[in-house]
Amino acid sequence: MLHQREQWSSRIGLILAVAGNAIGLGNFLRFPVQAADNGGGAFMIPYMISFILLGIPLVWVEWALGRYGGERGHGTAVAVFDYIWKKPFAKYLGILGVIIPLVVVVYYTYIESWTLIYSFFSLFDKLPDTPVSAGLKDYLKPFEEFLVSMIGANSEGMFLNPPLYTYGFFVVTLLLNLYILHRGVSAGIEKVAKFAMPAIFIMAIILLVRVLTLTSPEGRNFLDGFGFLWNPDFSALKEPKVWLAAAGQIFFTLSIGFGAILTYASYLKPKSDIALNGLASASVNEFAEVILGGSIAITASVIFFGVAATQEIASNGAFNLGFMALPAIFANIPYGQFFGFIWFLLLFFAGITSSIALMQPAIAFLEDELGFSRDKAVLTLGIFLFISAHIPIFLKGALDELDFWIGTFALVIFALLETITFVWILGKDKAWEELNKYADIKIPKVFYYILTYIAPAFLVIILGWWIFTELPSKLIPEHINGWIARGFILLTALIGIYLVKIAWEKRNGRTSA
Ligand code: PHE
Repeated sequence: MLHQREQWSSRIGLILAVAGNAIGLGNFLRFPVQAADNGGGAFMIPYMISFILLGIPLVWVEWALGRYGGERGHGTAVAVFDYIWKKPFAKYLGILGVIIPLVVVVYYTYIESWTLIYSFFSLFDKLPDTPVSAGLKDYLKPFEEFLVSMIGANSEGMFLNPPLYTYGFFVVTLLLNLYILHRGVSAGIEKVAKFAMPAIFIMAIILLVRVLTLTSPEGRNFLDGFGFLWNPDFSALKEPKVWLAAAGQIFFTLSIGFGAILTYASYLKPKSDIALNGLASASVNEFAEVILGGSIAITASVIFFGVAATQEIASNGAFNLGFMALPAIFANIPYGQFFGFIWFLLLFFAGITSSIALMQPAIAFLEDELGFSRDKAVLTLGIFLFISAHIPIFLKGALDELDFWIGTFALVIFALLETITFVWILGKDKAWEELNKYADIKIPKVFYYILTYIAPAFLVIILGWWIFTELPSKLIPEHINGWIARGFILLTALIGIYLVKIAWEKRNGRTSA
């Protein structure tokens, strides 16, 4: 489908957009919970190893596949796999690079809208207040009740019944996302990233300074928090669970295995570097994750509640650290309202620059393969997302089900497919050449071996572990809602496959005509 594709307007804009893609709720909410739940210092070694052996190579794979597609006028794995494999089935595997981000963004946008709610509520002092002196359970209780009532989890039966404002904030959040996408790649996504990224860093630094100056009545300070995260514990290297968590976090935070980096890279100007751009944006993400993300929530919680309680909070639920412990702390420090506002606004900015990235592959698919105009693509996507969002909003447990199958499991499969496509089907030397084409840095040769052998082997091992340790207990969902969520995933996949079929029929019809 030959039409003029959009492009990033500047290199700095490109890096900020990709950093905005990667820096998200994963960095500030998911990372602290994963780290605390997996032993702090015990988590960090598998995490760093996964970053080098999986993260960096896969970032390059996605950038390379994306530029390859962009050069040929296509922005998703559908066409890229088709070109490289030259086999009819490959494009159907490629649709995973549209389906995965699309399903993830259904619940991601919903969580993002909570951060907007909390941000407003902090500003207008509508969050609960509790005295410091109470014990941990009592202390967090009002915040737990607030969260539970905001998502409507206090009801009996299979449904959630969130209040109207929750629904309203979600709709506003979705519309904002769609508006940015309708503005397009450089006037929408890039422009927002140029504003939001610096804003995120400034807000993070304000919060960081505040956390570094916190002390508890028991005499704990930031060093206790840092000690928890940064004292390495080598015994955890033997634990598959910690490895899975660490690798899973690397995937999620760097946005790899979704197809979203691929789509962003397809809007590169011709003859652009990917080696340095990929490394730079991954490094910015890691800075935001381990330095900023790692020092705010964990440190504040360790200072206020201690290490054991922080681990307990993290293990009780993915949202408890960010949406319960932190507001509880803010409620008890001077100007806490302001800090709470900043914390949740930071989350919102981080969230929105990621959710637009999760939505763009679907837009690119509709534009590049089905010839939709941008507005028609955004409208189609908007309708789909609006309808689908009712699943996580109203069905108990559906959010976790979607996150398990798509936001955790499917990523690894797609990442493996991308790696196989790039290094084995394209060919390892061609792949290396592709990566180094127009490169502004010289990539050390060890990465050739990491890319060709170690990363794929690592992926296979992770997948194997997954299948043996995590899968059996999840096969049968506890609840009918689990089946509904799976039905939704299946339906989305079938629609995707059907659209690919149509697109190729149209295309072949034209070339033979
Ligand atoms: N990396 C984002 C985060 O940390 C999530 C994301 C994944 C965004 C894939 C875009 C694409 O929250």
